[in-house]
Amino acid sequence: MTDKKAQLSVDGLDQPIELPIYSGTQGPDVIDVTSLTSKGYFTYDPGFMSTGSCESKITFIDGGKGVLLHGGYPIDQLADNSDYLETCYLLLHGELPNKVQKEEFVNIITNHTMVHENIRGFFNGFRADAHPMSMMCSVVGALSSFYHDSLDITDPKQRIISAHRLIAKMPTIAAMCYKHHVGQPFMYPNNSLSYSENFLNMMFGTPCDAEPNINPVLARAMDKIFLLHADHEQNASTSTVRLAGSSGANPFVCIAAGIATLWGPAHGGANEAVLNMLDEIGTVDNIDEYVARAKDKNDPFRLMGFGHRVYKNFDPRAKVMKETCDEVLTELGIVDDHQLAIAKRLEEIALSDPYFIEKKLYPNVDFYSGIIMKAIGIPTEMFTVIFATGRVSGWIAHWNEMISHPYKIGRPRQLYTGYTPRDFTPLEER
Ligand code: CMC
Repeated sequence: MTDKKAQLSVDGLDQPIELPIYSGTQGPDVIDVTSLTSKGYFTYDPGFMSTGSCESKITFIDGGKGVLLHGGYPIDQLADNSDYLETCYLLLHGELPNKVQKEEFVNIITNHTMVHENIRGFFNGFRADAHPMSMMCSVVGALSSFYHDSLDITDPKQRIISAHRLIAKMPTIAAMCYKHHVGQPFMYPNNSLSYSENFLNMMFGTPCDAEPNINPVLARAMDKIFLLHADHEQNASTSTVRLAGSSGANPFVCIAAGIATLWGPAHGGANEAVLNMLDEIGTVDNIDEYVARAKDKNDPFRLMGFGHRVYKNFDPRAKVMKETCDEVLTELGIVDDHQLAIAKRLEEIALSDPYFIEKKLYPNVDFYSGIIMKAIGIPTEMFTVIFATGRVSGWIAHWNEMISHPYKIGRPRQLYTGYTPRDFTPLEER
């Protein structure tokens, strides 16, 4: 925090309003506008383009430079040297674990992967063609009816227990959503497998298999997908989790609210939308037509998997994801896939066409993650579920950070443009 101040001159006021300016450790300074209410003004910032909603130590993004840090560590270093669970620990506790802490954390998560047997029964209520996100959203919210022992949000220990439960059970629930969809028996978690191996086994294994058979390249790719999606600062779903949590709601329903927000195609639904778009484009010959549509102001069509609210440079996660994508495709011997050919051509266009260059629209993380997941054999409707599975660590870390400090219920105001007061008109006169 600094002694810097901003002066706001307002027509009709004799004196400018003095507003404190705070500096973080990195990133733009922020102007504290909380005193404006007492002067009779609100700020107006639809889409929160210029609003810092909280103070946080978890993640830093410099979108212009393409930088993403968790606890100060660059995302590419974490992706190359760490793993998803270690990154979860970093997000939750602010430091990388030492050997003992890591072992203990992995052990706790591994031993909490099972869900209550009654949760299996919930799935009978869903149609087989239910979207997996609809099932995940409902089931995660319903966890709050099972874990009454960890719902006191004022107790730091209970908050961490809830965090462990969520991180541990998300892959199990995600795989159950898939198994219900394809009509196969649910697979129980297997404690001899790593987090990502376990997820792949619960997805693709069946009780008929003698023992798990997980390709290590695919397990590593899965772990990277979880790690690269773990947190992304105050995005729409994380802000939703914080807002829901600010009312004192329990962590499981706050996470369900985050899952709901993530589902939209402008956010986590983009990876599914990428594959649907590649399907719609159909062949490389149609690309020019779709690119022209994306550039046409009168056409709502957008190239899914391109552009980002914060990154006006290559998304650093996309760089790692692209390398992982190449590894997975080589491992699986996929060379002449027609969707891949379209994706590669789109990528070339986006990096060379003046429209995309001027607007700084680079391929984002969802562009490549969709291609990897398709290659692994994960159906498109599961893509956002997998994004949510990785993101739960970031959501719960932000929720815990908020609850650990003094906070207020989130309650934005508005610019009202409706009717001024008028008298009620009786029904027969309307
Ligand atoms: N295709 C074509 N034009 C685009 C695209 C696109 N994908 N994205 C943005 N533009 C244009 C947009 O029309 C606008 O043009 P103009 O200045 O002439 O009005 C300009 O670029 C700026 O776009 P914006 O919509 O004002 O930017 P935003 O920050 O509000 O939106 C976005 C960011 C991610 C919602 C948007 O780029 C988009 O819809 N992308 C496609 C969906 C997608 O891939 N989403 C995943 C985001 S990454 C995962 C995550 O973090 O959740």
